[in-house]
Amino acid sequence: MTHLALNETEPGCASDGVWLTCIECGERFSPFETVRYTCDDCDGLLEVRYADLPTWDEFEGRGVWRYSSALPFETGVSLPEGGTPLHDVPRLESDVGVERLRIKHEGMNPTGSFKDRGMTVGVRVAQEMGVDRLACASTGNTSAALAAYGSRAGLETLVLLPRGKVAAGKIAQASCHGARILEVDGNFDVCLDIVGDLADEGDVYLLNSLNPFRLEGQKTIGLEILEQFRDEEGTYPDRIVLPVGNAGNTAALYKCFRELTASGALPMEDVPKLTGVQAEGAAPMVEAIEEGWKETRRWESVETRATAIRIGNPVNASKALPGIRETGGTAVGVSDEQIRAAQRDLAEEGVGVEPASAASVAGLRVLREREDVSADERVVCLTTGHLLKDPDAAAEAGSQPEPVPGTTAGVREHLGLAGE
Ligand SMILES: Cc1ncc(COP(=O)(O)O)c(C=O)c1O
Ligand SMILES: [Zn+2]
Repeated sequence: MTHLALNETEPGCASDGVWLTCIECGERFSPFETVRYTCDDCDGLLEVRYADLPTWDEFEGRGVWRYSSALPFETGVSLPEGGTPLHDVPRLESDVGVERLRIKHEGMNPTGSFKDRGMTVGVRVAQEMGVDRLACASTGNTSAALAAYGSRAGLETLVLLPRGKVAAGKIAQASCHGARILEVDGNFDVCLDIVGDLADEGDVYLLNSLNPFRLEGQKTIGLEILEQFRDEEGTYPDRIVLPVGNAGNTAALYKCFRELTASGALPMEDVPKLTGVQAEGAAPMVEAIEEGWKETRRWESVETRATAIRIGNPVNASKALPGIRETGGTAVGVSDEQIRAAQRDLAEEGVGVEPASAASVAGLRVLREREDVSADERVVCLTTGHLLKDPDAAAEAGSQPEPVPGTTAGVREHLGLAGE
């Protein structure tokens, strides 16, 4: 890991010790004067940087804003988010065959996914910028979170969704929280192209994970995992396995580790291996890791039942690929059937997740079988969204309801129990 340090101490244009840096050319920008999502000079991705780096003893309270000293603001529009459980899953742990397996269940956030962590920060920044219309492209969860946080802030919200490819729970959320929903004749990547054009014209404020402030909120997943795991297990996890779509969380966790190692709060040898999992039918990050590429190739045609990660052009690839490589992690593709089996395995432990989330556990199983993960590893799998997000997929994975008569005798007979 040669690039973990953030060796910038004298920002040219800091605002209260916060600025934006282009990850490609190093150009720096003032954070809140002008709306920008990428570098003016080279179009590279931007990253939020701070004069002061985080240490453990300055965190207090619970949830995302516990980590305000590592964020651009003290607080924001909050429902509140974060503070999610780190479940143990003893049967799954021994079945997969690792020393320790814990599940960080981000489905327990207010709108049922990790996106809330990004939105509490992103909507706070939107308020600072004085914008009035928020927008995103979404495979579903971002739209639910944007709709809830936007309406809480009293702002107009516009969401672009791939028609026919968004789970029922997510559309219901976006709709009930009052978003204007556009169902686009195209996949997620097409939705993002369009909303990106609207944002470039200044017609909307973009709250996809291309927006670097969203990733600051999502960075708190890493801070929380490290603190919880250390407090409960007395050590840091060896590996964090997560589902990958746009690779925002992968980039955010990597940034978390870099800031902590740079401040001295996390020893370099304790940095967990970032391990990404994609559905086989939408796996440009896996391809890039396997081929040794610095960028991903856009997959025009993508398909998976895990609709949340049905993404062919991960916008954060250039931030996330170094994170996987430099922490010693890897990336793996899994089939829809492996995802469905992992969803059932988690449900048997009482942990209800949507298909994309179960990809992390499915991926861990594949990597363990290949011996790419060893038996003595302590692993955290991230589950990103709640089971109720996609009730149809949950019903397909589970048992079928059985019609019975409305009498005790009829039910006894159906169950094969002895008569009275
Ligand atoms: C449930 C779920 N899991 C995973 C992802 C992918 O996350 P990322 O874009 O950070 O890779 C998403 C994003 O849409 C999601 O909704
Ligand atoms: Zn640049």
